[in-house]
Amino acid sequence: MSETTLHRYLGQARKSVDGIDKVTGRARYAGDVNLPGMLHGKLALSMHAHARITGIDATAARAVPGVVAVLTAADLPTRGRQPSSRQTTTLADGVVRYRGEPVALVLATSLAAAEDGVAALQIDYEPLPGPVTATAALDPAAPVIWPQGAPKSDTDLTAAHAAVARGDDRAEHKASNIHERKRFSRGDALAALAAAEVVVEGTYRTAIVHQGYLEPHAVVADVDPVRKQLTLYTSTQGQFGVRDEVARLLGLRPSQVTVVPMTVGGGFGAKYGILEPLAAAAALATSRPVRITLDRSEDFLTTTPSPASTITLKLGATRDGTLTALVAEIVNDNGVYPFTLGGIMSTLLGGYYRCPNVQIDVIEVLTHKPQAGAYRAPGAPQITFAIESAMDELAHQLGVDPLELRLRNSATTGDPMGNNDPWPSMGLTKVLEAAANHPLWRERAPGSGIGLAIGGWPCGMSPAAAVCRVDTDGVVRVHVGSVDISGVNSSFVLVAAEILGVPPEQVEIVAGDTRSGPFAGPSGGSQITYSVAGAVAAAAREARRQLLEIAADMLEARIDDLDIRDGMVQIRGVPSRTVPIGEVAKRAEEQAGGPGPIVGDGRAAPAENAPGFVAHIVQVAVDPETGRVKPLRYVAIQDVGFALNPLMVEGQIHGGAAQGVGWGLYEALRYDERGELLTASLMDYTLPRAADLPSFEAVLVHNPAPNGPFGARGVGEPPITAGAAAIANAIRDATGVRIYELPMRDEVVWRAIHGL
Ligand code: MOS
Repeated sequence: MSETTLHRYLGQARKSVDGIDKVTGRARYAGDVNLPGMLHGKLALSMHAHARITGIDATAARAVPGVVAVLTAADLPTRGRQPSSRQTTTLADGVVRYRGEPVALVLATSLAAAEDGVAALQIDYEPLPGPVTATAALDPAAPVIWPQGAPKSDTDLTAAHAAVARGDDRAEHKASNIHERKRFSRGDALAALAAAEVVVEGTYRTAIVHQGYLEPHAVVADVDPVRKQLTLYTSTQGQFGVRDEVARLLGLRPSQVTVVPMTVGGGFGAKYGILEPLAAAAALATSRPVRITLDRSEDFLTTTPSPASTITLKLGATRDGTLTALVAEIVNDNGVYPFTLGGIMSTLLGGYYRCPNVQIDVIEVLTHKPQAGAYRAPGAPQITFAIESAMDELAHQLGVDPLELRLRNSATTGDPMGNNDPWPSMGLTKVLEAAANHPLWRERAPGSGIGLAIGGWPCGMSPAAAVCRVDTDGVVRVHVGSVDISGVNSSFVLVAAEILGVPPEQVEIVAGDTRSGPFAGPSGGSQITYSVAGAVAAAAREARRQLLEIAADMLEARIDDLDIRDGMVQIRGVPSRTVPIGEVAKRAEEQAGGPGPIVGDGRAAPAENAPGFVAHIVQVAVDPETGRVKPLRYVAIQDVGFALNPLMVEGQIHGGAAQGVGWGLYEALRYDERGELLTASLMDYTLPRAADLPSFEAVLVHNPAPNGPFGARGVGEPPITAGAAAIANAIRDATGVRIYELPMRDEVVWRAIHGL
């Protein structure tokens, strides 16, 4: 875009606006909030995957010095309400259905006393049978987890992530552990597969992966018992949705609940109100402020990791490498409450490539484990591992270059996604072309352990507003109601600086709560920059118009002759005649009968989403003696539309790619046959460490989004999609062996190499 070259601040890499607060410890997290009279909450979590609670004796717990209350389901205003999801859970009532389900809450004047109280609680269980794996749950002889039908959710706080997909409902009407069965199809895929000249098939298995945010869940609930007002200080991705859900669950009006989003130490899809309903209920029950924070093990036990998927995929093609058939079955292990990623998984699986005949069956399964939840590009790493492994294998069978095969079949704008809706403007071919030109790919020698995979995400959008004021100190203050989990504020300052002609250091972002902030959607679905930057731009334009109106009077010039540079309004061509914007703001605040103080409001409601596509190239070394895979080089190419702040965009790409390596090589929550979590600490759950990761090279492709602010697209989710598949393809290149299972740990790779 030629106009990008005219930008003075936009498109220039600038450091994060909140970096200093984070590295110096000044940033305030929810767990730092300390209120007078506040009680510390500690959860007693179910020790069983399925059991009846036969007794809770709190006598000893209540006798612990400092313990103020021991709450069970019956003590809460939510009593009698059947949870339909993890987000609607407070405390278990009579029955527990997963290891880690909250059973009781001990409140004390210190966390240590609350912990002692939990240790002194006597909870008696009568263990019950029930399936803890999808395979067991699908056995017709398995006990049915919800014999009356799974509880229905009336809201879905995680809807931000994924375009809702249609599909034929194939639900079974007898009681079953399958809570949803859908088919997505076009053409006649079975006939096309039978007629295909070449067929590749495989079954791909992925593990349960945790979002792995650094900051476990934390919330402080404050209550005004007289006015029945609640204030929640919390680590959340979206304050407005949490407000509405807490109000609904507690029978309050949304205006009775204020949600103050605190600095977030990572969310990745998991921070949409897991502890808030319980903390709010406990504050109402005791008329005291209540803080609940999870430690790492509790967080692993009682939150919402990504579901394990089993994907059976068959691709049919002609001898010249044109895809003719895609037949798939996806089985998701969703844990104890319904959670449906099958729609978005099918939308992507049937959408990356142009293929006239597609049939994808989705089977969503319930098990006695914590409910599955959203994790950065939910469902995409799973299906991308399957389709991109299969495409690589197809290239081997056909003896064609894997990148050429992808280019020949890649979907483009207007082609159908798996749900048969057309793709909005998207750039898969552009990232493939960039990959073809990258030296790591172009100069690779066969067998050197280099693999390629593509991936993509639809990216979300939602209406948003912003307010921009100019103060007498010359500082531009932009008020938003969005949560900065990924550096978005560090792009918003550039948007306002660009439009107002002020240095970015002179711009502050003021993030509001549900009372003080203008509406914005949640920080999920890669939508915040795409949705809110347009509102910030509109608010800044209105503030600029107001500044120029008053400055024209002050400088005795026509508005059309004015410009703002470096925070000074000036007459074009007469650089000596200037007035600082702070002076203009002062005039505006003092002038009786004038236009009034400088405050612009702006709104945006993008009409169409802007998908983000990636091509990742990775080089690995595989030790045949141990099966250990070491990623050596990693190139992450992404269509970002236009990078408002390239440093933030590259940071997002590095982080997403690192998580993709985690999916590929390291991460898995493992449960035993009784549903006990075996990996409930960072000693057992292998998050990649810095030394496990290659350095990442981010390559930005600028393919402007027609509806995005300055052409920007969503950036956050696409970079996690392709890593596992690219590593699998690199291992294939290095060893000749195809791995069908994530994570590709030493043992898995060693067995595959040795044919075991
Ligand atoms: Mo969602 S996984 O917070 O984009």
